[in-house]
Amino acid sequence: MNNKQIFSFVVNEFATNCYIYKDSESNNAIIIDPGGETKEIFNFIERNKLNIEKVVLTHSHYDHIKGLEDIIRFFPVEVIIHQEEYPLVVDNQKNLSLFLGEKCIKNLDIIKWKKVKDQETFYCGKQKIKILHTPGHTIGSICIYLENNNILFSGDTLFCGSVGRTDFPTGNIDMLDESLKKIFSLPEETMFLPGHNNYCYLKKEKQHNPFVKF
Ligand SMILES: [Fe+2]
Repeated sequence: MNNKQIFSFVVNEFATNCYIYKDSESNNAIIIDPGGETKEIFNFIERNKLNIEKVVLTHSHYDHIKGLEDIIRFFPVEVIIHQEEYPLVVDNQKNLSLFLGEKCIKNLDIIKWKKVKDQETFYCGKQKIKILHTPGHTIGSICIYLENNNILFSGDTLFCGSVGRTDFPTGNIDMLDESLKKIFSLPEETMFLPGHNNYCYLKKEKQHNPFVKF
């Protein structure tokens, strides 16, 4: 999806969405889940003269972090991750990259991690951004909430018509159910943009998603 502030890029064979969110009043921007190919992202940033302020990871999985070191070499900004997800992201076994025959994290010392917790906020330009801890797919999965714009980047917690799988290390179906309750307590006009496939709205999702039972 592309509006004037949100730009999405499908960056690998798992069809992971990497997002760039740009502040409405400046060229400040953040990158969410740099999961692979970076050439198109670099071109886009250059063409639009964006000032990348932060990278945010919704969770640690390989297909959401594969391009991280590439990005950080050009933009040595802080990388935001939930504090409980940090031990997973820095472990190539737990971030599933070794499982797929590759080490995603090779140069740990080039990354400035910012470990966050539920309800913590930061800014992209003047846009306030809130972290919602939504464990279930992994223990430290987060959603990224732009409250005043009714926008939620939902990672692999909630998809259009589905939810994240819970059979990877630290996955937990009860936690996922609680996290879904938390997400669906947000205004129903909220648009959510998942880690894979299309965006959708909470109102519609409440009616059609078979995993949403409340
Ligand atoms: Fe995942």
